[in-house]
Order: sequence, then structure tokens, then C-alpha cells
Amino acid sequence: MSIMVTGATGQLGSLIMENLLQLVPSSQIIACVRDLEKAKDLLEKGVEIRFGDYDQPDSLVEAFSGVANLLFISSSHPDDNVRLIQHSEVVNVALKAGVKHLLYTGFAFPPKGQIPANHVHLLTEQMILKSGIDYTFLRNALYMDFINVLGLKEAIQNGELITYPGNWLFNSVTRKDLALATAVVLTTTGHHNQIYELAAPRSWDFDELAEILSELSGTRIVHRQDSNIQHWIYSFLAKLDTASTSNDMEERLMGRPVTTLKESIVTFLQNE
Ligand SMILES: NC(=O)c1ccc[n+]([C@@H]2O[C@H](COP(=O)([O-])OP(=O)(O)OC[C@H]3O[C@@H](n4cnc5c(N)ncnc54)[C@H](OP(=O)(O)O)[C@@H]3O)[C@@H](O)[C@H]2O)c1
Repeated sequence: MSIMVTGATGQLGSLIMENLLQLVPSSQIIACVRDLEKAKDLLEKGVEIRFGDYDQPDSLVEAFSGVANLLFISSSHPDDNVRLIQHSEVVNVALKAGVKHLLYTGFAFPPKGQIPANHVHLLTEQMILKSGIDYTFLRNALYMDFINVLGLKEAIQNGELITYPGNWLFNSVTRKDLALATAVVLTTTGHHNQIYELAAPRSWDFDELAEILSELSGTRIVHRQDSNIQHWIYSFLAKLDTASTSNDMEERLMGRPVTTLKESIVTFLQNE
């Protein structure tokens, strides 16, 4: 049975492809990409490459032809209204093409009750449900990368981690872990019509982050809140449920612990 991955040349998609290539023969994998040049490596590994652009529905009709299992990685377009149009095209074409199983990478812990008018992920899930295609919703937690904008290097230099006031709690996971969990879903059975919250079993706060930075740097780093700190990330984070936890990744899919905050920071500091 063929497995197609859209966004296969993106950051998450590339990691999913790496995992898939370890788990099934390359002849079963199809990458759907909007830039064929970027997919040369995959082609060399024996993966079939098809052109598909969310903005060009006709290209998707050809791309999805004969595909049984379609992993639809959400669009990275900055405008949510555009994303919704793109997503609706993907779902419509998947239905017409006879896709049997549509897997979608949404966002973990969506708001309950009435769906906000521009909630791309929940509205896309609704479109998929309405299509009647068997689905799997892979609701991805906040990528661990967001710690990159918190000024960790400066905190180590100045002995102070300064954050915007609030009772912040974070559940964040690495793309690597998300990719493994997703590849497991794509290559094993029992996932039709399931919803997974791909998140960590525990959340963390800025005090813990300061403690880890202290431990790793060998100097004392104090956490201080300051309302003068201005960064777009805080208004973005305030709109999300970044505190809830789930065992779906560790217990139901990965069969190993998720990468911890400390392990992620080690990698981050090594790459700086
Ligand atoms: N959970 C989180 O914290 C979080 C954070 C950021 C984003 N996201 C969402 O998760 C998705 C995957 O994340 P990522 O890190 O892999 O993002 P990414 O590296 O930007 O990858 C996005 C992928 O979507 C493809 N794409 C964009 N527009 C397209 C179009 N019109 N037609 C076909 N393909 C298109 C891109 O193609 P190219 O390779 O040609 O660029 C790329 O492969 C993002 O798109 C976004 O919706 C989640």
C-alpha cells in the first residue's frame, strides 16, 4: 500500500521520510513536493516524487492518483485564510482521488466548544470528517524549537533568564520525535479514525528552564519576569494550550521516552 507524504521536503516532512525509509521499502513511499529540485535526495533513495502544490488543485489531482494513505502536512503559508483554502483543496482532491486514509498534522490540545472562525487545524479536521474519508489526526504539540527565541545564550552570559510575566507552562516536543511517532502511525495498523495528541507526558516552566541552563552552563542563572520584555512569541503562546499533557507519543506510538527539555537544550547549545 502506497504512503504519500505532502510537504516531504520541509523540516518535519524530511524527518518523516527518513523514518519511513527505515521502516518500509522505498518503493512504497511517494513524496508530494512543490519544488522537484529539493527532492533530488529522495529520488536517489528510490522514493517516487510527484509535483503537488496546494495552490494548484489540478496538480494535486495528478499527484494523489492511486494513493491509498495520504499524510497531509499542514501548509506553512503565513495567512490562515489562504491556508484554509489550500487545505480545503487538498481534502476535496483527496476525496475525488479515492484516498482511503487521510492523516493530518494539526495542533495539540485544540480549544473545546465552538471552533474559532480562523482555527485552521480544527476547521481542517472538520473538513476531513465531513469528507467521510478514514482519518487520523496527528495533533502536534509546540515544536521545541521555540526555545531558540527565548534568549538562552544571553541568559547564560548575563546570569538571568528574563521572561514576560505569566503562569507559563509548556508542553513542547522535538520534530524528530514527532517524525518517529508519525512514521509509526503510517507503517502500522489500528490508527484509522483515531486522534493522537502528539505531546509530552509532562510540561515545564521557566524556573525549570533556568535551573537546566544553570546546570548545563555551570553558572547560576536566575529567572526573572519583566513586563518590558517584548517578543511576538508571547502573544502567540498566550492563544494556545501549551500546558496539557498526553501519553500518546510515548506509550501508544514511540515506545520510548520523548526527548526532554534538557536534552533539547544540550543540542541547541552545541549548535550555537
Ligand atoms: N507544532 C508547531 O509548533 C508548529 C510550528 C510551526 C509550523 N507548524 C506547522 O507544521 C507544518 C510543518 O512544519 P515544518 O517545520 O516542517 O514547516 P516547513 O519546514 O516550513 O515545511 C512546510 C512544508 O510545506 C510545504 N508547502 C508549503 N506551501 C505549500 C504549497 N503551497 N504546496 C505544497 N507544499 C507546500 C513546504 O514546501 P517546500 O519544502 O517547497 O518549502 C514544506 O515542505 C507547517 O507547515 C505548519 O503548518 C507547526
